[in-house]
Amino acid sequence: MKVLIVGAGGREHALAWKLRQSPLLEELYCAPGNPGIAEYADLVPIPVDEITRLADFAVDLKVDLTIVGPELPLVLGVVDEFRSRGLAIFGPQRRAAELEGSKVFAKEFMGRHGVPTAPFEIAHDAAQARKAAARFGFPVVIKADGLAQGKGVLIPTNADELDAAIAMLFEERRFGASADRVLVERFETGEELSFMALSDGEHVVPLATSKDYKRIGEGDSGPNTGGMGAHSPSGLLSADDAAALLEKVVRPTIAGLKEENRTFVGVIYAGLMMTSDGPKVLEFNVRLGDPEAQTLLLRMEDDLLPILVAGAAGDFGALRLRFRKEAAVCLVLASAGYPDKPVKGELISGLEAARAVPGAHVFHAGTALRDGDLVVSGGRVLNVCATGPNLREALRSAYTSAAEVQWPSKVLRRDIGKRVLEMAAAVE
Ligand code: GLY
Repeated sequence: MKVLIVGAGGREHALAWKLRQSPLLEELYCAPGNPGIAEYADLVPIPVDEITRLADFAVDLKVDLTIVGPELPLVLGVVDEFRSRGLAIFGPQRRAAELEGSKVFAKEFMGRHGVPTAPFEIAHDAAQARKAAARFGFPVVIKADGLAQGKGVLIPTNADELDAAIAMLFEERRFGASADRVLVERFETGEELSFMALSDGEHVVPLATSKDYKRIGEGDSGPNTGGMGAHSPSGLLSADDAAALLEKVVRPTIAGLKEENRTFVGVIYAGLMMTSDGPKVLEFNVRLGDPEAQTLLLRMEDDLLPILVAGAAGDFGALRLRFRKEAAVCLVLASAGYPDKPVKGELISGLEAARAVPGAHVFHAGTALRDGDLVVSGGRVLNVCATGPNLREALRSAYTSAAEVQWPSKVLRRDIGKRVLEMAAAVE
């Protein structure tokens, strides 16, 4: 089969690594990809948001299946474009991708279908946002409605931070039209985890659990990022808890989308807070999480390719996925200044030594080649991952491997998995 991956990050590198292991794979392309992905796929220099060009490429090269990593092309309608040309693609249509494309839509949808989430108000200007924030008290969550690369969630803890958040959204217009409307919602406390499942539009097939660390700083401090590390399993859910999440959150969402003529094919991702009052959905994503995907793909036993082919054809039947009974960890090595203004252009060294650590894998994200040398080109630069018989061992290998990689402005969180390890009842 000829397969095209759309995207350029660590998630897409892990997808390429996984798909290369399929005996069904003949040709693998990635648009636009990165220097690490080039080891497994032919890179195609088409940006992810140029959906007509992507479809033209798939027609010309007779691509059998396209897999979409990031949210932007999904929200722009890449699936609708491909399907209109008779091309197989695994991902949600535009109307279903609105679940991630508009946080206001997602909240109202959850209200219509009884999916548990925090109380909220919608604000169109600074005055409305202040009024809503006063209702909920500090800390309060303020979110840009539209896409903001994981950076559009602000959590002011006092009046000064609220002023700064409101200025950023409504005066500086840091998120542009994505913040024409904003959500103001109650801050929920508990442990955060990611729960993902595949859907063919009808059936729902859960992936293993995982946990993402979204804040830039240790102890979950500082601004939100796209994710600074992850592990699978999450260490926070029993098998019964996971089954309950499937019934309370994922199935009603997939059924609700179908009922609203927004049939969902692809990966549904619920970002959850496990509160004392039960699970609450913080956000939905309509794709694999990054860096969670790296940990899930490292643990997946099945051949991914026939699964995605079946999903794109609406034909999962009685599919169940198998994950190895081991732990996988992903550490994000970022460049100082991320998420605002990462330092770019510095030379990266030590990758061979990092990859030589037993159980370690290095997936590229913000890297580029300059005169044959690997340099930093983005905020999240490399994903140093490792598997092990348990979370403690996987973390040990991942941190040993990450220590080998060097560039002057390298930063990483040193506390990935720490609190979960300290909690006694860590299960799945
Ligand atoms: N790691 C969170 C996300 O992919 O949105």
